[in-house]
Amino acid sequence: MSNFKIAVLPGDGIGPEVIEQGLKALKAVGNKFGHTFEFNMGLIGGVAIDKVGVPLPDETIQLAQCSDAVYLGAVGDWKYDKLDPSIRPEKALLGIRKALKLFANLRPAFVYEELADCSTLKRDVVEGVDIMIIRELTGGAYFGEPKGIENRNGEKIGFNNMIYTESEIERIVRKGFEVAMKRRKKLCSVDKANVLDVSRLWREVVLRVAKEFPEVELSHMYVDNAAMQLIRNPKQFDVIVTENLFGDILSDEASMLTGSLGMLPSASLSENGVAMYEPIHGSAPDFKGQNRLNPIATILSAAMMLKYSFNLDAEAQSIENSVRQVLKDGYRTEDIMSDGMKLVGTSEMGDMIASYI
Ligand code: IPM
Ligand code: MG
Repeated sequence: MSNFKIAVLPGDGIGPEVIEQGLKALKAVGNKFGHTFEFNMGLIGGVAIDKVGVPLPDETIQLAQCSDAVYLGAVGDWKYDKLDPSIRPEKALLGIRKALKLFANLRPAFVYEELADCSTLKRDVVEGVDIMIIRELTGGAYFGEPKGIENRNGEKIGFNNMIYTESEIERIVRKGFEVAMKRRKKLCSVDKANVLDVSRLWREVVLRVAKEFPEVELSHMYVDNAAMQLIRNPKQFDVIVTENLFGDILSDEASMLTGSLGMLPSASLSENGVAMYEPIHGSAPDFKGQNRLNPIATILSAAMMLKYSFNLDAEAQSIENSVRQVLKDGYRTEDIMSDGMKLVGTSEMGDMIASYI
């Protein structure tokens, strides 16, 4: 029996609704296994802009730093689209990743047998897919300097810098190998080493770290080919490790194998500090308050928290089993609805999963 402090940052759009469902699941786990989860709410994104004028208040970072884990909904709303980029809600997401040094983003794409027909791809292509995408999260073009828009020679130029140090590459690549060791021992490193210097260094470091993991079957793939292979034959992949921007793109692509963006959780880990858990989907402001969105990605993110931050494997499993059982019993939110299934709203789906726990 233990006590865990969780910083809860619901954010914008449908963030609060899906987080509410995740908290129901955590409470159910607490009751069943005798743990106490202490939820401390914090502001992030547009709601923080409205209340205190900045998307990522210092108090939120402090709250996160003195917690055992951070649980985030989503940030962003059309109404902030006209703001200066430095205070847009998305800035908060990048800011908290950087502040907490969350360099490793784990995005599992797992196809539930019950949902194999929801994908736009054929059942036999996606059935049995179980991929872990590991995306570098605090480097590359997202953060590289110099960057900006300037006037040069009578016209504007825009630029970003995809830059990585050897040590940044090494720690994410090592994470890739470590995760592969706990899975099917296959690692695919995705780069663009035929064109980019930064990718050539990436590959050099991958080959060096690989010597420490002789049991892992390593392959390299250019990112354009990887994008194609993910659609052509996704079952060839076990763990994919890649840099920030490539990982952003490939993880959205991989989510469609599973049938819905609403199914994919994520964990963002640091070297030894607090970790953050969030669905990979955004804030979907058009759906806000309508009780229509799928909370499963957020609920499964809570399972990842139990596993990676608290080492509670059986507890994590109890959430995953409940999700599976609810799907087996035919309950579906709109995004994964099909003939003969029972349509439920966000909150009913949350209640159902919590009660199965
Ligand atoms: C993601 C999102 C973010 C990203 C945006 C909202 C800043 O797309 O988490 O994948 O690009 O990292
Ligand atoms: Mg993205």
